Amino acid sequence: MEEMNPLQVIDIWTLAHDQDAALVNACEKILSVEEIARLRRYKPDHKRREYALSRALLRSVLGEALAAWPAELEFTCSNRGKPTLGGKFAHAEISFNLSHSGGLTVLAVTRYPVDLGVDVERLRTDVDCLGLASRFFSSREAHELAGLAASARPSAFFACWTRKEALVKALGMGIAFGLAEFSVSMDPAEAEARLDSDHPALSGAWGLYSVRPATGYLAAVAIGNSGRRVIHLHEAAPLLRRAIGK
Ligand SMILES: CC(C)(COP(=O)(O)OP(=O)(O)OC[C@H]1O[C@@H](n2cnc3c(N)ncnc32)[C@H](O)[C@@H]1OP(=O)(O)O)[C@@H](O)C(=O)NCCC(=O)NCCS
Repeated sequence: MEEMNPLQVIDIWTLAHDQDAALVNACEKILSVEEIARLRRYKPDHKRREYALSRALLRSVLGEALAAWPAELEFTCSNRGKPTLGGKFAHAEISFNLSHSGGLTVLAVTRYPVDLGVDVERLRTDVDCLGLASRFFSSREAHELAGLAASARPSAFFACWTRKEALVKALGMGIAFGLAEFSVSMDPAEAEARLDSDHPALSGAWGLYSVRPATGYLAAVAIGNSGRRVIHLHEAAPLLRRAIGK
């Protein structure tokens, strides 16, 4: 019975962008020529840090999981921009997705070939929750949000937003999918969220989980299969330092 329904581990790696400059600069050691070229095109310093740290994190975590040198990994992108492994690891039984917001990168990894998406947002209270909900959410979600006390709206908004983004990122579509095509529950305290949709792309089993990756942030991970799951949160800086010898 256990073998028919194995426990799926989803690892969530978090990396704050306020790392020391020596570490950020050393990330280039494991980036590809194309990644370094893209890095140089970013003008604001915080965007350069975000990109260098995120790509080095991706390479370090996947390199360790695949027993490969981080620099030797190759990536390809779907036509909508979702990165996957290419080259000799193109068929590796591993899935990943990455997100960054307000100085934090979050990387979700699981040892299965499955649709996986993650989204992180820095929690803020200065967002126009109702305006954004009426623009992007389903009418059911917008109505539910409007019915909450004003003080409860920002956390419900971000719970809903991260769950929806994680799902469309798992599909590889991004917001091109149409965020109003489906509804998710928005109680931020709910670890596993409910999904409601008639859309054929969402007809299979989905798991949708909220996690708090760091103080002041909320993340969600979506996984396109059924099963028992456990989420392990890890702080990635030590692994990154090891991978780049800093
Ligand atoms: C790319 C997209 C999928 C996510 O964008 P985002 O929320 O701005 O960014 P995130 O930090 O969560 O994710 C970006 C990462 O997802 C990955 N990614 C890119 N395209 C992807 C896709 N189609 N599917 C899944 N993952 C994708 C990449 O690793 C990317 O990292 P990079 O930018 O360093 O290359 C985009 O289509 C999207 O949904 N944008 C929504 C932004 C928006 O309108 N927000 C309004 C807030 S109210």
